[in-house]
Amino acid sequence: MLSKIGVIGGGMIGGVLVQEIVRRNLAKVVALTDPAPFVNPDDPPEKQEATKKQSVAKGKALDIAEGTPLINGDSILMPSRDYDVLDGCEIVINTAGVPRKARPDGTFPSREELLSINLKVTSQVADAIGKYCPEATIISIANPLDAIVYTLFEKLKPKKNRLIGMAGVLDSARYRYFVAKEAGVSVENVEALVLGGHGDTMVPVRSCCRIAGMPVTDFIAEDKLEAIESRTRKAGGEVVGLLGFGSAFVSPALSALEMAEAIIYDKKKIVAACALLEGEYGVDGLFVGVPLVLGAGGIEKIIEVNLTDNEKSLLMKSVDAVKETCGMVDKMLSQ
Ligand code: APR
Repeated sequence: MLSKIGVIGGGMIGGVLVQEIVRRNLAKVVALTDPAPFVNPDDPPEKQEATKKQSVAKGKALDIAEGTPLINGDSILMPSRDYDVLDGCEIVINTAGVPRKARPDGTFPSREELLSINLKVTSQVADAIGKYCPEATIISIANPLDAIVYTLFEKLKPKKNRLIGMAGVLDSARYRYFVAKEAGVSVENVEALVLGGHGDTMVPVRSCCRIAGMPVTDFIAEDKLEAIESRTRKAGGEVVGLLGFGSAFVSPALSALEMAEAIIYDKKKIVAACALLEGEYGVDGLFVGVPLVLGAGGIEKIIEVNLTDNEKSLLMKSVDAVKETCGMVDKMLSQ
């Protein structure tokens, strides 16, 4: 059990995170920070005063706290509109930023289209982490994932083993779910890896997909696998399109918790996650989704998996897409 964990952003993902952290007894103190609801300067003064007294973080935390007698969770919740509650956190999970939302015509933006707005939010988040918990291990969920993690790195320069983006665990879980359904087997039997950036270029690695240790190709025909891999690449958008009001929030929260638990319990667990590459896979200075070992030291090892030539070239295409978005980050940060 940690002494203190912090969740930044108390929206849809943040709420599930806090609820699960309490239910799983992962930390004695759970800090939750969110500046919402935002005061609208065009509102009449009395409305502005009323808004200032409200707090999404406090409301969510109280709701969760009032449920703790029913789940035997004794964690202490520390919610606030301000960042100072992050003081002394050992792990922080960053969900701050806007999610994708379906437009009235049913289309929806790419994760990359969130960049300019979420970059501003991330700058504030980075300052807060630097001020209140500079040694914390950071698990970041906000999108566009790879670019936001890169931004946190550029602004904070943390130890590279202490900054991890959550994407591969989620993308791999989606791939595992689709494979399990198609093969008619338990999700527990399916192992999978999805590498690269957390966008439409991500790479579901078929050569690493196993059902109870056997190659997935023994169970599912080529054309069906192709359809599953294509659905995996677009799985986030599928949920956005169905929900209408935002993006997936349960599976991303569970994925981040899979990573947090591997660190808290020093599991040495191999997961796909976004990490700084310094020569691995021929990439230098970018955050990309790769298999790595998670334990008490954060990222304890990056694994260079044997890929087929086709998988290698798809991974490089995905790296190029990440490079392009990070180039946009560099430009925006220098303005
Ligand atoms: N600091 C902290 N929190 C902030 C800030 C900030 N500067 N700006 C906004 N937030 C909060 C919002 O007030 C909101 O409550 O972040 C929360 C985000 O919650 P949601 O809008 O419900 O979004 P969610 O579905 O949780 O997704 C969060 O994760 O998967 C990604 O694309 C998704 O970038 C999005 C993020």
